[in-house]
Order: sequence, then C-alpha cells, then structure tokens
Amino acid sequence: MRSYSLIAPAKINLYLEILGDRRDGYHELAMILQSIELADQVDLHELGTDTIRVHCNHPLVPLDQSNLAYRAAQLLTQEFPDVFDRFGGVDITINKQIPVAAGLAGGSANAAAVLVGLDLLWQLGLTQPELQELGAKLGSDVPFCLAGGTALATGRGEQLSPLPDLDSLYVVLAKYSSLMISTAWAYNTYRSNFGDSYIRDPEGLESRASRVHSGPMVHAIVEKDGAQIGQLLHNDLEKVALPSNPQLLQLRQAFADSGALGAMMSGSGPTVFALCESQAQAQEIQQQVRAAIDDPDLDFWVSKLSNRGIQLIEL
Ligand code: C5P
Repeated sequence: MRSYSLIAPAKINLYLEILGDRRDGYHELAMILQSIELADQVDLHELGTDTIRVHCNHPLVPLDQSNLAYRAAQLLTQEFPDVFDRFGGVDITINKQIPVAAGLAGGSANAAAVLVGLDLLWQLGLTQPELQELGAKLGSDVPFCLAGGTALATGRGEQLSPLPDLDSLYVVLAKYSSLMISTAWAYNTYRSNFGDSYIRDPEGLESRASRVHSGPMVHAIVEKDGAQIGQLLHNDLEKVALPSNPQLLQLRQAFADSGALGAMMSGSGPTVFALCESQAQAQEIQQQVRAAIDDPDLDFWVSKLSNRGIQLIEL
C-alpha cells in the first residue's frame, strides 16, 4: 500500500483589514499572510476499502465530516468519482502540533496537505491553480496554506499575490489552551459593531484593496524592514476579540511591552504573537512574558517565519 507524508505549516496574519460585506455572506478582506515553521504532519495511506478514515493525536480534533481534512478527501472523491474504483479509500493521520481553533489556520493547512497528498496518491495530476481552486471550496485560508510564504490575500482571502520572502524573522506565539474563539463569531460580531463603516460600492472596495497592495506594509516587506513591519502590524478583529477577553488583552499588552519588533493577535485569535529579529530575542521574550503572566493555562511556541507551503517528506 502506498503512502505519503506531508508537512503542513501554520500561518499568522501580519495584516488583516475588513473592507466590507460580500454577497456570499463572507467579508471582503485585505490581508497579508505569513507561513511559519510550526507545522502539523499529515500522513496518507492507501486503504483497500472505499472509506475515508481520520486519526489525530489531539483529543479536540474531530474525526468526522466536520474535519476539513476529511472534507478535502471527500471533495476529491466527488470531483473525481472514479478514484474510489481505481484506488480505494484513504487513511489520514494528523500529527497535530499547531494549536487548535487558534487563528493559525491549522485545519486549513491539514486540508491543503490532503489535497496535495491525494493528488499524488490518486495520480490526479492537478496543477497548482487547480489545487487552489479546490482549496477555496473548502475554506478561505486553504489556497494560502497550499502556496505558503508571504502573500497578500484579497477577496474572501483566497485571491493571492505572492510577496518577497521574510524568512529571517522569528515569532513567539502564546495561547491560553482553554480559550478558543470561533472565526464566525469574530466576523459576525465585527459586522454588528462596525458594519456601519463598511465600504458598500464595488469601486470603493477595489480601490481600498489596491491601496493595501501599494501601501506601507507591502513596502516594508519588500525592504525586509523588520522594525517597520512590527510597527505596521494590524488586525481589525482585535477590536472584537480583545475587549471581550481581558486575559487576551493583558497578554497582548505584555508582548507589546516586551521590546519585540511588534505584537498582534493572529487571524480571529486567540493566539497572540510577538515579531522578533532573532531566535534568541524570541526565547528571551517568551521567558519574560511567562514570568509576567504566571498561568499554567498559557502555552508558548517559538517559530521562524517560513517561505514554504505544503511540503512532501521524502521517506
Ligand atoms: O472560510 P472559512 O470557513 O475559514 O470561514 C469561517 C467563517 O469566518 C465563515 O463562516 C464566516 O463567518 C467568516 N469569514 C468571513 N469572511 C471571510 C472569511 C471568513 O466572514 N472572508
């Protein structure tokens, strides 16, 4: 039986601006997304039977159709109905290292890995644009997880423009293990609180997105100016997640006061990160914040920024 192992990196947001509503119920966004080395491993094994099975070492990860990795395999069987007849089903084992429901796109990264792995296992011969199109059907972050690196993401988050690599910087990430924030809740609360300021006309949306394209954060990334990038970190969803979670606000403040290049919440949270110029600085800030907030519920990770998306491991 053939098998493939893939590395599925997490992402952080360096920038997340909510521009307006979309007809499909989602939000029109302008984001800058960044892969980090913190990653899950996804192993795919051919199965003789016509089933999709998911295993995971993390107790909170569902193993049924509510798991995006399961849905990625299911989507391919629907798009290519003859694959079950030719190859049988698949056994998907997720070795979870990325915190769950954390704003780090862990579930989307797993789904992206399943698309890449099954393309190989089922000999589908899909191109990168075809994989990206399938990924967008599963979730807004899946196309970025396939490509990885540093990218500007507009539309729902699925339209990508690659940016120059930033892989010399580090982050220290922190998350309260018992705190989870639903992405849908964060966006819906943002709409209730700030929907009045949404841009309503298509030209206005386009011109705002293009201002981000040519704006100061992209300039700082092109210049590889870590200090500027740290200053320009921005996430609109902090406006809903921080006020309703005092412990998150305290953590964000501790990172902001730590001497890092900058600090911010990633995606819809609740992971908060500090951008650092070196691994030594990241480790020092981790110790400093751990000492300042002495809470056993608070977990930390140090990770390097990465220029890679889904990677096949040579066995
Ligand atoms: O695309 P994904 O399934 O990851 O999105 C999760 C939820 O986040 C959506 O159901 C929606 O409520 C919200 N969302 C949004 N606009 C986006 C992306 C996500 O409102 N561009």
